[in-house]
Amino acid sequence: MKNLISPHGGHLVDLLVDEDRIAEIREVSRDWPSVDLGPRRLCDLELLINGGYSPLTGFMGSADHTVVCSGMHLADGTLWPLPITLDVADEVAEGLSAGESLALRDPEGVMLAVLRVTEVFQPDREAEVRAIFGTTDRSHPGVAQHLHRAAKWSVAGPVEGIQPPVHHDYRELRLTPRELRHNFTRLGWRRVMAFQTHRTIHCAAQTMMVEAAREAGANVLIHSIVGLSQPGDADHYTRIRCYQALMPHYPKFMARLNLLPMAPRGGGPREAVLQAIVHKNYGCTHLMVDFDGAGSVLETTGAPAYGADEAAEIMAEYADELGIEFVEAREMAYLEDRKRFVPMDEVTEAGRVLRISAEEVRRRLDDGREIPDWYTYPEVARELHRTHPTRGAQGFTVFFTGLSGSGKSTIANALRVKLLEIGGRGVTLLDGDLVRANLSSELGFSKEHRDLNIRRIGFVAAEITRAGGVAICAPIAPYNVVRREVREMVEPCGGFVLVHVSTPLEVCEARDRKGMYAKARAGIIKEFTGISDPYEAPTDADVVIDTSDVTPAEATREVLLHLERQGYIAARDDG
Ligand code: PPS
Repeated sequence: MKNLISPHGGHLVDLLVDEDRIAEIREVSRDWPSVDLGPRRLCDLELLINGGYSPLTGFMGSADHTVVCSGMHLADGTLWPLPITLDVADEVAEGLSAGESLALRDPEGVMLAVLRVTEVFQPDREAEVRAIFGTTDRSHPGVAQHLHRAAKWSVAGPVEGIQPPVHHDYRELRLTPRELRHNFTRLGWRRVMAFQTHRTIHCAAQTMMVEAAREAGANVLIHSIVGLSQPGDADHYTRIRCYQALMPHYPKFMARLNLLPMAPRGGGPREAVLQAIVHKNYGCTHLMVDFDGAGSVLETTGAPAYGADEAAEIMAEYADELGIEFVEAREMAYLEDRKRFVPMDEVTEAGRVLRISAEEVRRRLDDGREIPDWYTYPEVARELHRTHPTRGAQGFTVFFTGLSGSGKSTIANALRVKLLEIGGRGVTLLDGDLVRANLSSELGFSKEHRDLNIRRIGFVAAEITRAGGVAICAPIAPYNVVRREVREMVEPCGGFVLVHVSTPLEVCEARDRKGMYAKARAGIIKEFTGISDPYEAPTDADVVIDTSDVTPAEATREVLLHLERQGYIAARDDG
């Protein structure tokens, strides 16, 4: 453990041990119990190891947990707003006792740290959620999720860091508190205002932070929360490329960019205090938090759940102990006549104020329309356009649902042919029977099995859509909830069109192409949809087609028209 005294942020306690100790640990650790950490705990561990959580020296025990929850301080009197615990499964807790060592590993099994167990305890989770969310009301989504996820047991003790979690992305932008402090000292930055953000920065936010920094006589650290971004999560990369495109537009020598490996808790104002402490440890003297207002385009992860006013209030209350100044973010308005941004509350003239909502930006990206220069820099807009192709170039899924014999497969096949004629995208047909012969060959027709079957189809469709292809799915998919799940899986990857083939049961039964209805009526086939098993008609269908009185060509045309209207395929006049 090393202590660093610096003009930036005071003492820094980081937990990385030296080479000799690492060799020693590796030698003796073979038989130690170990836990693999999930993404949230990995963030906590990284901030413990690198000093972001300074002065913590490990995961909290019951004494600290109690005082932190009830009084916002550690047992030794230091300001600390939220519990930082290592929660473990019952099996792990039962096998552990004080004095033992526990290896902390990443999901690949790499040993990152060792915890010397001082206590295995059951934290008061009610007190914990009250501290984090300011309520124990289970209808609060954060409370419900936290209580659902929280294990019964936590393990406490000091941590020795062997190596920080491995990141393959943007290593040059992942400076630790120690590195960043040295950097600031080298650059002569004595006052640094962190701008904590979770989303793309556009001109309004940039103007605001530059003005606030000038007023405070500070430089700017754009500190982007990236804790829970997953590899493969395109938004994460787009966002960082957008920051990189933005950086040359700051006044010379004013700003730099860094990534903060912090997992947002979605908590109340106490979370703001934790973030302030972390930023102080990273060497910042001022903190401005990016609250949602104008500008959120593609991503929402990491948005603070607390409000600007609550944050200002709690920061003021603990200002002396915090040692970092909270700078309030101001909403900006663009005045068309004067061609500049001014704080919203200072808009006095009668001139036109220009505004673009986040939805409007998304629509413009979908349609390939320009995003104006006053809103964002052309280089940033180019990055957004690059990763958010127009609908005409995005992948999509057409998901048919309906009774057996309703005509799903017929329309799906015809649609496939038409889309191949149009060209430009690969088309994959995931027909009910086809999927059951391959992907779901072991499944039957119970509700559980049907749901699993549909989830599998949804997963494959989402991957095809993400890769820019077309997935046409045609299962019965009788249940609403799982159909919704599929929509939620696919929509972030591209388009999703739910087509309800609503042909009535009598018509399907009269057709009885496969002779299955007769067998179902005779009780030979059990759990047959429409006869002895339910079908929930969708209420959120984008297209509804009853094939009783339309030809397959007409039905296909309906779907194509919808796709045209939505911009996924170009309008054509042949059919
Ligand atoms: S589900 O509910 O979405 O998982 O069903 P799906 O995978 O589309 O499979 C439906 C096809 O399987 C045949 N089949 C049955 N359907 C409904 N209920 C029961 N019990 C059943 N047993 C076999 C039936 O031929 C369905 O094909 P389609 O093409 O829909 O007529």
